[in-house]
Amino acid sequence: MSEAISEKVKRSLQDLGIGDEAAVTALLGELRATLDRDLASGQDAETLRIHWLGRKQGLIGAANDNWLKTAPGPLKRVTGKLINELRKHAEESIDALKNAATQELAGERVDVTLPGIRREIGAHHPVQWVMQEIEEIFRSMGYSVETGPEIETDYYNFEALNFPPDHPARDTQDTLFLAGSGNYLLRTHTSPVQIRTMEKQKPPVRAVVLGKVYRRDAPDASHSFMFHQMECFAVDTNVSLCDLKGTLNEFTRRFFGPHVKTRFRPSFFPFTEPSAELDIGCLICGGSGCPVCKRTGWVELLGSGMIDPALYGFVGYDPEKVSGFAFGCGADRLALMKYGINDIQLLWQGDKRFLRQFR
Ligand code: PHE
Repeated sequence: MSEAISEKVKRSLQDLGIGDEAAVTALLGELRATLDRDLASGQDAETLRIHWLGRKQGLIGAANDNWLKTAPGPLKRVTGKLINELRKHAEESIDALKNAATQELAGERVDVTLPGIRREIGAHHPVQWVMQEIEEIFRSMGYSVETGPEIETDYYNFEALNFPPDHPARDTQDTLFLAGSGNYLLRTHTSPVQIRTMEKQKPPVRAVVLGKVYRRDAPDASHSFMFHQMECFAVDTNVSLCDLKGTLNEFTRRFFGPHVKTRFRPSFFPFTEPSAELDIGCLICGGSGCPVCKRTGWVELLGSGMIDPALYGFVGYDPEKVSGFAFGCGADRLALMKYGINDIQLLWQGDKRFLRQFR
């Protein structure tokens, strides 16, 4: 788009000093050369059309107005003829550009009749099903659902749960500490949420906790460095061991079915006194003995006990007035038993053929 020619079309032939046919032909040749450069410049067809053929500011229209109309008699015919030829050339070339652009688009058009790419539908994870079911069982008994952080402090994971510093019971937890963080660790159990809940809530408290916990365990068929726990606890006046047993019976029957057998075995946890572990009759062999129950007919299910009164001192409860129970266990293990899965590693390998079965 030569500046010169766009200026020239604004002036008359007299002004430009053009007085014979050769000069007119040269002038229109210059205009045509400019047009051809524009056509080859890669500009889009509509921009070119407005610039050259536009009704108001098009160069060819201006040439028509300023040159043809001022052309002296003998030059009118040739000027008109050359301008018309130029207009025709411009129209055809710009149309051709337009068509080429449309065809290019057509080549890219999406064929809406092609079959789509099917999106895979996600599935509930078996541990999710188990946790959801546990949550529903305890909600129906009037429990609230509480959560706490997975990155915990020594205080909540141990100290306030009555693990004295350097007490050997800490070793049993295989704790993963956060490097360089001073006091932070990955919680080894959901029991710290007992403390966190009692700190913010006066008795009576009835709560269930479901969440991830971490331990420095070598992975094998029954160990994983990350797993899920469920924790349940209740504090009120006159809560007794009978309440604990009744609640455990109710929970195990609703979760595993009405015929499940249970038994208590004495145990130890720093935060419960007395403590007991609950076994259930093996669901695989029905109690006659198999590899899963190591031929005993019983499978360890969970840890439980009456909340040690020492804990109440940490949360400002009066140990003379209240009492409570707590129990907790691995939700992953519940899933293994419920669905008859024999390797905990299967849960976290992300194999779709495995996971698909739990939709
Ligand atoms: N927190 C214990 C564990 O992880 C389980 C437990 C919970 C035991 C509540 C007693 C009471 O082993």
